[in-house]
Amino acid sequence: MTWLVTGGAGYIGAHVVRALVRDGASVVVLDDLSTGSASRVDPAATLVEGSVLDRALVRRVIGDSGVDGVVHIAAKKQVGESVADPLLYYRENVEGLISLLEGCQAGGVRRFVFSSSAATYGLPDVDLVDEQTPGVPLSPYGESKLVGEWLLRDCTQAFGLQVMSMRYFNVAGASAPELGDPGVFNLIPLVFQALARGERPRVFGGDYPTPDGTCVRDYVHVADIADAHLAAARALEAGTPGATYNIGRGQGSSVLEVLRVVAEVTGQPVEHDVVDRRPGDPARVVAAVDRIRDELGFRAERGLTEMVESAWAGWQHRA
Ligand code: WQD
Repeated sequence: MTWLVTGGAGYIGAHVVRALVRDGASVVVLDDLSTGSASRVDPAATLVEGSVLDRALVRRVIGDSGVDGVVHIAAKKQVGESVADPLLYYRENVEGLISLLEGCQAGGVRRFVFSSSAATYGLPDVDLVDEQTPGVPLSPYGESKLVGEWLLRDCTQAFGLQVMSMRYFNVAGASAPELGDPGVFNLIPLVFQALARGERPRVFGGDYPTPDGTCVRDYVHVADIADAHLAAARALEAGTPGATYNIGRGQGSSVLEVLRVVAEVTGQPVEHDVVDRRPGDPARVVAAVDRIRDELGFRAERGLTEMVESAWAGWQHRA
């Protein structure tokens, strides 16, 4: 089977491409290399440089490569940036999806794996967030992903597209140092950056209703994210109908726990400053992971220490 992976030269996409290639799939990558890099693309995959917004290119790639299914990862993903520039996020994430879906409809592609996000949930007030928890996203980024899920559901009705929507929780780590997260936007890379600069990492809020007062998140290794996509792609190939899945570990870690693991892994003391809460941060976001385990047989295997160790190796590789 041939899978088209959009965003396959990026941090998460490159891991998904490797997982598919290792499992014997033929892979075509469409990536505009705005944040990704050609060197991340598995040599066994074919890289086409271009944007999902280029409708003619999308149609050509789907037609010429005999694509059987699409894994759509190409997207903008910074929450703060999306608040400042919502038009950019709706254009790239919603219009980009429309362009790709037009290509799928025209080319007869009926299998689709969609990169969605826990950001679709907004401020969930539950211990474990399951896929039925109502979604009220707090940012244009989260909205663009939820709108994408709705559009995909409509395409299932309209022309039989089978869709696996994968809601990532807090992705971290790398399967090789050269595949580390190049962005410095999330907690773990921000802590590494502070250490590198001789600064004290900032902890956003110490008065949350959590065991140690800091926010709790469900950190999940990017290699587990890739394995989940592989499970979703294989299920679609086997004729399993589409569904929406959380991809997390089902275990929460507080910001202070993450800092402790960073200190252990790096061997450096991590002295931090507790500062004001960051607006819009929920106290706790932890996935219920039963559905993906029961229906796709997937379970995240890698723990927080492995995530931080591999993220640290990636950070040192880039330095
Ligand atoms: C994690 C925790 C912060 C930086 C975002 C998106 C989400 C998903 C993952 C894509 C929070 C705290 C952070 C710092 C801190 N993205 N923190 N000091 O906000 O949980 O999730 O990225 O799909 O949709 O919303 O991730 O890494 O920014 O923060 O204390 O310098 O670390 O408050 O509790 P977040 P994050």
